[in-house]
Amino acid sequence: MKITVVGAGAVGASCAEYIAIKNFASEVVILDIKEGYAEGKAMDLMQTASLNGFDTKITGSTNDYAKTANSDIAVITSGVPRKPGMTREELIGINAGIVKDVSSNLVKHSPDVTLIVVSNPMDTMTYLAHQTLHLPKHKIIGMGGALDSARFKYRLAEALECPASDVDGLVIGGHSDTGMLPLTRLATRNSVRVTEFLSEDRLDQVKEDTKVGGATLTKLLGTSAWYAPGAAVSAIVQAIACDQKKMFPCSTLLDGEYGLKDLCIGVPVIIGKNGIEKIVELDLNDAEKAKLQESAEGVKKTNGLL
Ligand code: 2OP
Repeated sequence: MKITVVGAGAVGASCAEYIAIKNFASEVVILDIKEGYAEGKAMDLMQTASLNGFDTKITGSTNDYAKTANSDIAVITSGVPRKPGMTREELIGINAGIVKDVSSNLVKHSPDVTLIVVSNPMDTMTYLAHQTLHLPKHKIIGMGGALDSARFKYRLAEALECPASDVDGLVIGGHSDTGMLPLTRLATRNSVRVTEFLSEDRLDQVKEDTKVGGATLTKLLGTSAWYAPGAAVSAIVQAIACDQKKMFPCSTLLDGEYGLKDLCIGVPVIIGKNGIEKIVELDLNDAEKAKLQESAEGVKKTNGLL
């Protein structure tokens, strides 16, 4: 199993590290345009192999896509991250050109690759990948909802004063500070609805904290987060590589599902060796349907900037 990670920045390097430590891939290639940077990150990670007990071979490449040839899975993290006070949507001017070039180069050397887009604004970058490439639509996946759901579970566990392992919850909709839809109605604590434990006001606070989870960290760190984004995308890579049939909310090109067409937005999907193997249509209530529709309008507005 060969995996390429484009972008040796914090998110890409964290993703590569988590993939290596999980030891399901034979090879990880990290590629970056900055001279020597990917090679340095790869070498530093390889020097943890004896300490972290993995056999994965990690190599780095300065913009030589021949080194990525015949990748099974490729992750696109390249582009600029946001600064405090910025929205993800403001990155489109710079990142659209990068994602177009990177995805084209990846597919040229790996025509059967499954692509996972992380670069922001992620839903629009995923849509751009569909427009740019001629991959089957089940092989282009946008990673946002898996990260947002992890932040949702963090906030729920905080409110419930319980371990995150006791909590389950989904965030659907656009990966944006305003468009996310944390499904508090369906969230559970060990199979018991969280609405049994938390007031509506407290759940509203959990929702709001989840929606600005990325911006909160960008303000604290001075740049976008990387550990949770890297972990979220590595979990999707593992689900493909190991054919796990796991369900994640991922940005997916819709063609009528949820009453939405011709856009990529976060909905629950089953991930396995073929990428997106099934789109799961939840039985949303009217308020949730309206919120998802509103979120879709926001994503389409950003798509219009392409
Ligand atoms: C985040 O929310 C980078 O969009 C990513 O942290």
